[in-house]
Amino acid sequence: MTAPAALIEVDDLHAYYGQSHVLQGVSLRIEAGEAVGLLGRNGMGKTTLIRSMLRLMRATTGRIAIRGRDRSAERPDRVARLGIGYVPEGRGIFPNLSVRENLLMAARPGMRGQTDWTYERVLDTFPRLAERLHHGGNQLSGGEQQMVAIGRALMTNPDLIVLDEATEGLAPLIVKEIWRIVAGIRASGIASLVVDRNYRAVLAHTDRCIVLERGRVALQGASSTLGADEQALQAYLGV
Ligand SMILES: Nc1ncnc2c1ncn2[C@@H]1O[C@H](COP(=O)(O)OP(=O)(O)O)[C@@H](O)[C@H]1O
Ligand SMILES: [Mg+2]
Repeated sequence: MTAPAALIEVDDLHAYYGQSHVLQGVSLRIEAGEAVGLLGRNGMGKTTLIRSMLRLMRATTGRIAIRGRDRSAERPDRVARLGIGYVPEGRGIFPNLSVRENLLMAARPGMRGQTDWTYERVLDTFPRLAERLHHGGNQLSGGEQQMVAIGRALMTNPDLIVLDEATEGLAPLIVKEIWRIVAGIRASGIASLVVDRNYRAVLAHTDRCIVLERGRVALQGASSTLGADEQALQAYLGV
């Protein structure tokens, strides 16, 4: 028997914006059910790595395999149907659609046929949204928009959810609520890749972390080990 394929595996990934060589040979692997943090100061390449893995960046080289199949040249709309829920930086919900429409249009069973995340379960998880079903995306607070973005990703019944700066610009109470939801997603067995400015929170909500420094993996390890390494935290993440 061969080991089950990783959900996503990236090998020697490079990415460019014009002449600017932003990712310089990144490799990473996420297995089913793993919670992985992606850390690094502003501008180190976290969003570029995520967009490259999901094929939203065109100028890349290297191997991208999803569920054991090479997807290095796959169309992004196809990649979006391989069981990865993406909550992009800046949320990306539809401003002219209601909360209800934003959620329902994402609904589908997962890659293993799982239908754990229903409209009802998403509304149970985000009671605030249940009170605003007919509001347009553009009538919501930042926190509510973020909840719609996460709710939409969950409605696709993903095996992996990617959260890029999900708490950015939100009030402390809402931030707390988002982390509670991230913990719930982790407990439910969905794998995650989490980027957040608050590296302490990322360390607390993940099994292991990868630290990027100018487009390369500078450090990786168990979140508990990294969290205790003040010197490394200061060197790579300190301000
Ligand atoms: N659209 C773009 N065009 C040119 N350079 C970009 C673009 N987006 C990001 N960059 C540059 O690429 C580097 C990595 O950015 P990014 O992946 O957004 O970092 P992070 O998410 O870690 O903050 C930065 O130097 C940034 O200025
Ligand atoms: Mg970013």
